[in-house]
Amino acid sequence: MSIWNLGSINVDLVYRVPHLPQAGETLAATGFQRGLGGKGANMSVAAARAGARCVHLGAVGRDGRWTVERLMEYGVDTRLIAEMAEATGHAIIAVDESGENSIILHSGANRALDARSLADQLEGAADGDWFVTQNETNAQQETAQVASRRGMKVAYAAAPFEADAVRAVLPVLDLLILNAVEAAQLARALGVAPGRLPVRDVVITKGSKGSVWIETDTGTETTVPALPVEPVDTTGAGDTFTGYLLAGRDRGMPMEQALRLASKAAALMVTRHGTADVIPDLKDVQDMTL
Ligand code: RIB
Repeated sequence: MSIWNLGSINVDLVYRVPHLPQAGETLAATGFQRGLGGKGANMSVAAARAGARCVHLGAVGRDGRWTVERLMEYGVDTRLIAEMAEATGHAIIAVDESGENSIILHSGANRALDARSLADQLEGAADGDWFVTQNETNAQQETAQVASRRGMKVAYAAAPFEADAVRAVLPVLDLLILNAVEAAQLARALGVAPGRLPVRDVVITKGSKGSVWIETDTGTETTVPALPVEPVDTTGAGDTFTGYLLAGRDRGMPMEQALRLASKAAALMVTRHGTADVIPDLKDVQDMTL
């Protein structure tokens, strides 16, 4: 089967800083890297590195041709990525000495997608393929609805968090992935606890505390522990988790086994500086011992 990812593609400009900047503060960076990023692109790379066939739906500007080439090098099917008049999206990322980050996004081409073309592109999908999206493109709701009508399984990673964006796709979701802060924000916005959402599987990631999988039909909660690692950069760890989780599910792994694989991949990812370019491949994850 395949994973179809409607997702952002960004140029990540990553600055290492002694601490995250305060309001009004000018701060000298101690390091700089430019690389491929975007929550969407990161998830596609993670899924491909985990062995899945991943088709990326998205857009870049002329300035971003190299990002498409890089996605292709990493094993992602890039044939449906559009080139737009708008500039490629970019992210300015500050990473402090404890590995925490703050991110400023400029969406560019990521929010200039044409919903009708995306619907046409999904005609190549098969019944039972996965569709995944996140909140860094336009046309999430329309495309998720088309995917659901085509018999695809629909997953949503609720980042960057916006309650209205989640609300818009909720009726067609099979799997919702969000972190603990986002889960609390969603519960406040909808007045419904995560376990009572109309989505079969809800996964809440909790960083070093692992993740919780809620099966909403029975109310069963399964906790999968995180692996103890020393983080140097947490950027893209959530995206790596999601890409690996979907790749596992797409290969027919039971949810708990896919969650354990995803947790391992995310743990390895936080020990590396960078985003899409350093997402671990399956062999690295399988060989990981602690
Ligand atoms: O989740 C990390 C990603 O968020 C970065 O790659 C950046 O581009 C932003 O989309």
